[in-house]
Amino acid sequence: MTTSKVPPVGLARAVERFRSVLDRLHRRSAPPSAVMLEKILGAWVAQGITVAADLKVADALADGPLPIGELARRVGADPDALARLMRALIGEGVFTQRRDGRYALNALGAALRTDSPMSVAGMARMVGHPAHREHWSQLLEAIRTGEATVPKLRGMPGFEYLVANPELGEIFNDAMTNLSEAAVVPLTAAYDFSPYARIVDVGGGHGRFLAAILAATPSARGVLYDLPQVVEGAPDLLARHGVADRVEIVGGSFFDSVPAGADAYVAKNVIHDWPDHQALTILRNIRAAANAGAVALLAEFVIPERPRQFIGNWTDMEMLMATGARERTEAEYRELFEQAGFRLSRVVPTVAPISLIESRAV
Ligand SMILES: C[S@@+](CC[C@H](N)C(=O)[O-])C[C@H]1O[C@@H](n2cnc3c(N)ncnc32)[C@H](O)[C@@H]1O
Repeated sequence: MTTSKVPPVGLARAVERFRSVLDRLHRRSAPPSAVMLEKILGAWVAQGITVAADLKVADALADGPLPIGELARRVGADPDALARLMRALIGEGVFTQRRDGRYALNALGAALRTDSPMSVAGMARMVGHPAHREHWSQLLEAIRTGEATVPKLRGMPGFEYLVANPELGEIFNDAMTNLSEAAVVPLTAAYDFSPYARIVDVGGGHGRFLAAILAATPSARGVLYDLPQVVEGAPDLLARHGVADRVEIVGGSFFDSVPAGADAYVAKNVIHDWPDHQALTILRNIRAAANAGAVALLAEFVIPERPRQFIGNWTDMEMLMATGARERTEAEYRELFEQAGFRLSRVVPTVAPISLIESRAV
């Protein structure tokens, strides 16, 4: 477990505050319409990054700098159009150009490599995908009605639409893997799981979070719980991370029940998928299954009480459109936990935007 790469949470927060002061200064020193235009045109910048990810420009540059002709040949693009896109991206700090004219990776460009452990290529491809853009074109309707728009647009729940469209489904899964990879090390560095002998990962997908927890906690055993067709894909990942012999894989629905008898129940990016009444069903099923004094640990983006720049504000919009669900504040999680028979004990921040919300069965 490589926790050494995670900077202290305090340092990360100090940098964030410094950045927000600089942002405020920038907003005050430039004409408001110029600042607004920059934000509006962020959609174009994002689409340019999506195209670079779709073309796998970063993978093509992985072995070293290339002249435009060779780069265009390798990614299957028009050399003049690609050179103009590269100029625009370099202006945003993504990729660099050498004095001899060859294009090269820099730190931001390298984050688009598909083989990078912290890759965001999947996220870039998902956010700019025509189907996903179409979903976001429904934001106006979602804000007017307060209702989920994806099921209306697609004639089926969003997760079913992904199954019916495997190409989009694969891009979505890659994007989720990107988010998970970026979150698991900060989460396991921020919290000591060693007091728990048996840990159930509820809605754990293929078990990436559970694998990280067990790698950091050699004394613990885990149960991976998700829908049967999802956990089918878990054994490879668990084996790759060297924890397969300590994990029991269980398929089922958390709306029916949750595996019993654990000291800790973790659920990462699960509760935010559901409106309150369904979130409560999941938490009550966890409560019914939990040992006396067990903890429930949710890994989620906790919305700050006072508005500030925060990724969770935007995944909140995504949740609204997708399922009518929401990201929540600490107070909203406290209330949900109370109704489900838990008491929120603390929110543990990490160096990433995700936090661990710890509660105990009462
Ligand atoms: C946003 S994903 C999070 C996955 C994983 N915890 C992570 O962070 O990568 C939500 C998970 O909930 C699972 N899920 C959805 N409905 C479920 C149900 N009724 N019972 C169990 N798991 C379910 C999905 O299959 C998916 O793996």
